[in-house]
Amino acid sequence: MGAEEKSHAPTLVNNGVDDEERGHASVTLGAVCYRPVDMKPSTRSDVAPFYVMEVMRAAEAREAAGHEVLHLEVGQPSTSAPIGALDAVAAAMRNDKLGYTGAAGTPELRQAIAGWYRTRYGLSVPVERIVVTTGASGSCVLGFLALFDAGDRVAVLEPGYPCYRNDLTALGIDVVTVPVGHESGFRPTVDQLEELGPVDGLIVASPSNPTGTVLPADMLSAIVTWADAGDVRLVVDEIYHGVTYGAATPTALAFSDRVTVINSFSKYFSMTGWRLGWVVAPAPIAAAVERLAQSLTIAAPTVSQVAGLAAFDCVEELEANVARYRLNRQVVLDGLGRAGLARMAPADGAFYAWVDVSEIGIDSQSLCARWLDELGVATTPGIDFDRTNGHRFVRFSYAGDPAELGEAMRRIEAWMDARR
Ligand SMILES: Cc1ncc(COP(=O)(O)O)c(C=O)c1O
Repeated sequence: MGAEEKSHAPTLVNNGVDDEERGHASVTLGAVCYRPVDMKPSTRSDVAPFYVMEVMRAAEAREAAGHEVLHLEVGQPSTSAPIGALDAVAAAMRNDKLGYTGAAGTPELRQAIAGWYRTRYGLSVPVERIVVTTGASGSCVLGFLALFDAGDRVAVLEPGYPCYRNDLTALGIDVVTVPVGHESGFRPTVDQLEELGPVDGLIVASPSNPTGTVLPADMLSAIVTWADAGDVRLVVDEIYHGVTYGAATPTALAFSDRVTVINSFSKYFSMTGWRLGWVVAPAPIAAAVERLAQSLTIAAPTVSQVAGLAAFDCVEELEANVARYRLNRQVVLDGLGRAGLARMAPADGAFYAWVDVSEIGIDSQSLCARWLDELGVATTPGIDFDRTNGHRFVRFSYAGDPAELGEAMRRIEAWMDARR
């Protein structure tokens, strides 16, 4: 290879010099040799890893070794996108070139989201306030960028969804923790918020991951009033709306025009892998989100927008999914009760039970490892969601199959009996 060619191939390092001479370990890919590079990532990227990934890896390894695993660790529906969405995609793949859309999403999808607020909540939301994103994860990054500056102080709940903290940290925002626990039903109180001192923002989720707890209308309205009064930018994550078991889930948009709401097609609509979500924000923030999206993603995937639009017409199928979660929830709550593990957050919505396992006397990371090893039951240790008290909690996901959940509960019950 000539010198000129070499300059266009910077990763090719085996240009005549022996690896041993260089003193580096190397990886050989076919005829090309790559040397591991010693380069420190940015400080801002030093966010906490997800321990649930370790559980999933261990569960996969167990399955690969031919052992059965009952999955209660996975935080996603076990169903596909609804049939109507799949049909719409099949047609679009034949008839549509599926190029980029505008950064805020297709006009049809934005209209349909506005229609969802009209029919579900009786609210009129101007389309200009709606931006389609790459899942609620995309909504968080774009929303936080549009709402906050580096150095701002933003509060999150603990336990809570860990990405809020990680995203904010990566953006140079100071994260303030609001601990919630049994005493307040895992919901923040306005008194607690008052004690935070000056904050620029607050992120809450209702229903919450990992607790499943819903903020009832009076509490949500009190939080919105507190935020508006103090000029605190409130973000409410409503990704689990629709996945509830009797508790009403008003949207925070009903209480103020200053709130930013994030939502997604991942949970109720059963479309995690399609990476589609949305933000509803005050008009200037929505415009900033759109502007940022132009540069950061260009737009959400077009094929997913086609699917999302059709999914709004699949409510019957989606409600059947929720009916199954309701049965699953009963199986898990009954099983945990029989196992003596009934100290948990109010499981009002989502598909999680957040259970205090401290009486067992084993750190939840070790406990989850033992349940996987001894029972073939995969669950999630609480540490991802609560860095302070997570070692006392396990999250059980009941998004899966009822028979599998029943068997998992029987095994845990027998394990607990054997310890008594
Ligand atoms: C509370 C919460 N918010 C946001 C997300 C991200 O969801 P998405 O798949 O829409 O990016 C999740 C995913 O589990 C979640 O639980």
